[in-house]
Amino acid sequence: MDTPTVVRPKISAKHVGKIYDTADGPFVAVQDFSLDVAEGEFVCIVGPSGCGKSTFLRMAAGLESISSGSINIEAAPDSDKPANSVVFQEYAVFPWKTVIENVSFGLQMRGISEKERTQVARYWLDRVGLTKFANYYPHQISGGMKQRVSIIRALANDPEVLLMDEPLGALDAQTRVVLQEELLRIWEETRKTVLYITHSLEEAVLLGDRVVLMSAQPGGILDIYHIDLPRPRSFETTTLARFSEYRALIWEKLSAEVTRAMEMQE
Ligand SMILES: Nc1ncnc2c1ncn2[C@@H]1O[C@H](COP(=O)(O)OP(=O)(O)OP(=O)(O)O)[C@@H](O)[C@H]1O
Ligand SMILES: [Mg+2]
Repeated sequence: MDTPTVVRPKISAKHVGKIYDTADGPFVAVQDFSLDVAEGEFVCIVGPSGCGKSTFLRMAAGLESISSGSINIEAAPDSDKPANSVVFQEYAVFPWKTVIENVSFGLQMRGISEKERTQVARYWLDRVGLTKFANYYPHQISGGMKQRVSIIRALANDPEVLLMDEPLGALDAQTRVVLQEELLRIWEETRKTVLYITHSLEEAVLLGDRVVLMSAQPGGILDIYHIDLPRPRSFETTTLARFSEYRALIWEKLSAEVTRAMEMQE
């Protein structure tokens, strides 16, 4: 008899809570947040401003302590990959390092030889059209390019999971579309497990296999939507009737939650 294979989720968050100590006393930012993300899944998180999205992502990244519950990132026992790499909205690049030094930084930290890290960095620079700028410093390139550097630096690390907090949030609309398409192409090839926070519902529906809608404070899960749109996806996907239906469906609930969040602040 075949034993059924139990597929362990790549990311498993169980009853996660976060309480911040503030001058006004304890503040519950995240409450009873449970989510499993499968290997190779792209999960987007949306929710009103201040609902605890970044808090959750920082906890998953190990950058913030967890007050209750647990978050586990599954890795193969012999894996020497980092558990996660994080991409933030701000261009988190080292201004004193060149583009290629930035991209290979994580590999350098892991003691990878110069030959190998240059090879990996060059591959990623080429993937996003930055080869010509390898020896430039961040102040010599545009915002869109800087964010490409942040993204490929995370990918060059080959982490178990990629955690992204509004990675395209600071970009103008056109650059954002270009980078969304680049991200889609890269993800469809690498099938990294991704947790992706965005303020843009369009972006969430375009990129995600699932969209998690968070409730306003304390942040929990209000709803989860499976986005059954064909892949490979591209900007064209946004013209499909089904795309608009998903957007309208989620927007109805998200907008009500945004209103509720604003009323709570009054
Ligand atoms: N270090 C901290 N100390 C106290 N409260 C904090 C701290 N960090 C965040 N908070 C509060 O926790 C709540 C959640 O913040 P968080 O940054 O996670 O929200 P968010 O959903 O990412 O918001 P946005 O969409 O605006 O980025 C907010 O009310 C915020 O003020
Ligand atoms: Mg945030």
